[in-house]
Amino acid sequence: MLTLTGWDWGLGNMTYGPLWRRHRRLFHQYFNQHAVTAYKQDLEEASHKLLQRLLLQPEKFVYHLRYMLGAEFLSAVYGIHDAEEIDQYLAIAEKAIQGAEEALIPGSFLVDFLPTLKYVPAWMPGALFKRKAAEWKRNAMAMRNVPWQNVSAALDSHKPCIGASMLERISHLIGSEHAGEEEVAKNVAGTTYAAGSDTTYATLHIFFLAMVLYPDVQKRAQDEIAAVVGDDRLPNFSDYDKLMYLKAIWMECIRWQPAVPLGLAHKTLADDEYNGFRIPGRAIVMHNTWAILQDPKVYSEPKTFNPERFLRDGAWNLEVMDPAVIAFGAGRRICPGRYFAELSVFINAARILHTFDIMPALDAEGKQIKVEPDMTSGFVIHPKPFQCSIKPRSKAAESLIRGGNSDN
Ligand code: HEM
Repeated sequence: MLTLTGWDWGLGNMTYGPLWRRHRRLFHQYFNQHAVTAYKQDLEEASHKLLQRLLLQPEKFVYHLRYMLGAEFLSAVYGIHDAEEIDQYLAIAEKAIQGAEEALIPGSFLVDFLPTLKYVPAWMPGALFKRKAAEWKRNAMAMRNVPWQNVSAALDSHKPCIGASMLERISHLIGSEHAGEEEVAKNVAGTTYAAGSDTTYATLHIFFLAMVLYPDVQKRAQDEIAAVVGDDRLPNFSDYDKLMYLKAIWMECIRWQPAVPLGLAHKTLADDEYNGFRIPGRAIVMHNTWAILQDPKVYSEPKTFNPERFLRDGAWNLEVMDPAVIAFGAGRRICPGRYFAELSVFINAARILHTFDIMPALDAEGKQIKVEPDMTSGFVIHPKPFQCSIKPRSKAAESLIRGGNSDN
């Protein structure tokens, strides 16, 4: 695939060298299991805004999910809060992510198999991949560079964000040393945003699909949340440990329809053998996340959305594999954003279920419009468009949504 044949198209062409380790250290520093607790308040605020948007325009729920998830990242990474700026940056990011998703499907281009093709000039017939790659590179660079312009201002005005914190860390450096480290910081910010917002949005979208298709699951989660939280406030992160069924819903979302079903391509560093198969060094290896998470020997009736599979007698059923073992990739490049993703989906799902009923939409004759669990294909998958009805569960729920400070 383009990124692995050494194609210089942007953020993704790093292998396991010292440069990659510098990036990886920063990902870990800002997104490890403890560090992510710093983002909880922002995530609660963003989820409240999502509820308000869903209340006003429920039919545009997909747009709101994409917008709010993008806005969540723009605020956490670049300190961008202004609605107009958010719109502008989301448009830039959308273009870049589209290109990345096309390029990241291994085998989409002949150059994946014949790396020497990268030397043919872009004007030659058949070199469409080169022209596409040039455009994708421009878009990826815009996504990396344009929002970064906000970071110095965020640092000056003491608005906390990951970009400002990274700039502060290198403020003692000068000249080329500073420039080099700033490049790394920009890459980390850009990759975080690109890798995190679409995947998390896809998972929340999958959550909506599951709730429409499995009303019993929805009802059970709503009952659990009501018992823990009561009627007079929104769920927050202090409820996390008590909402086991909701946590099981998160696990089932990443198992039932893993947002990145084929993972990211990896490359073997040396000859290897697996179950009698010889794998040559430098071979591209894909792990089939989807097949692992749909294996009926591990997950009975794998096509059914059933969070209960992870629970037994009110405790975790440790005999059933946690899908996070593979849904976020594997090895040294395992997704560093997995803890952040879980927090984001958890708080949004908890608050949505506490305040809204998600049901099939009705047609003109009042009959339920059938929803199928169909997904798009690609590097990151999404549910195919479907309609649903999203209504506040009660007057009390509506006033929680409208309330200014309902987190306490
Ligand atoms: C449900 C949401 C998410 C899913 C399903 C997901 C999945 C993945 C997968 C499969 C990989 C490839 C790992 C490998 O090479 O084996 C990956 C990489 C990555 N993810 Fe995530 N991710 C999610 C959310 C996030 C979030 C929220 C962030 C940032 C806060 C993030 C940042 C990254 C980065 C930076 C990489 C590249 C790591 C590297 O190459 O060293 N992801 N993710």
